[in-house]
Amino acid sequence: MIFYFSGCGNSRHVAETIATSLHDTLVFIPEAARENRYEYALSEGERLGFVFPIYAWAPPKLVLDFVKKLQLASMPDYVYFACTCGDECGKTENFFRKAMEEKGWSLSACFSMKMPETYIGMPGFKLDTEEKAAQKIEATEATMKRNIPRLINKEQFSEMDLGKAAWLKSYVINKSFNKYATDDSKYHVDLKKCISCGKCVEVCPLQNIKLPQGEPVWHGHCTMCMACYHHCPVNAIQYGKGTEGKGQYYFKKTEDRS
Ligand SMILES: Cc1cc2nc3c(=O)[nH]c(=O)nc-3n(C[C@H](O)[C@H](O)[C@H](O)COP(=O)(O)O)c2cc1C
Ligand code: SF4
Ligand code: SF4
Repeated sequence: MIFYFSGCGNSRHVAETIATSLHDTLVFIPEAARENRYEYALSEGERLGFVFPIYAWAPPKLVLDFVKKLQLASMPDYVYFACTCGDECGKTENFFRKAMEEKGWSLSACFSMKMPETYIGMPGFKLDTEEKAAQKIEATEATMKRNIPRLINKEQFSEMDLGKAAWLKSYVINKSFNKYATDDSKYHVDLKKCISCGKCVEVCPLQNIKLPQGEPVWHGHCTMCMACYHHCPVNAIQYGKGTEGKGQYYFKKTEDRS
């Protein structure tokens, strides 16, 4: 069984690829949490997997919150996670190992893959060029090809892109990020551009957006995945002044619009 989260499709692609190879079932974490589905049973020898993007050098808070509440009928014998990041994951592995220990489970394997950047909410953050994005996707396909057999064989391994000053980023900056940078009140929409298509409502994994009078309204429980910003077909959504002119990305966007 694979529990996964994804805002802009990078991690969904990874989760789907692993699930196909392992003939495994996928559970989308925000949906399960919304429906209070925390109790699961694994078949004998079934692997327990998690796939998610890196948010501020750690697993997204909603993933860790879900893990805390997750209940299994029996002890999993092989637990792994696969995560996607723009560049570096910091001490993500430590966060996850601790979450597993708190449940009395142990992490057997983990690996990270660089995928196209999705976070552009602050000055200095920008999307990858199309060329760099394509290179990252190609490298991820190769990493999956190499590591999926290791999951099938239940190998113990850790292959993470830590990056520099990992401790500071994961344990200090991450706290401020979760406290201050997931505030959706900075989202605003250019009403001259908005065509009331409802795409932002449809893609929000937390059902945090409503369209009462044909224009989006954010409702204060945002994880800052930026899916609403990236998927708007007329680029009418901005986050403060940090996103102006920075372009949009989601997995397979180029194919969608060609
Ligand atoms: C809120 C937020 C925070 C992020 N923080 C990091 C980070 O700390 N390190 C990193 O390398 N990438 C970071 N990224 C980039 C994503 O981890 C990366 O683009 C990921 O593949 C997105 O996955 P998704 O398409 O499944 O949502 C961040 C993205 C978002 C939206
Ligand atoms: S996706 Fe864009 S155009 Fe569509 S309703 Fe939302 S803001 Fe308006
Ligand atoms: S409101 Fe936008 S950024 Fe926040 S969770 Fe929904 S789609 Fe993601």
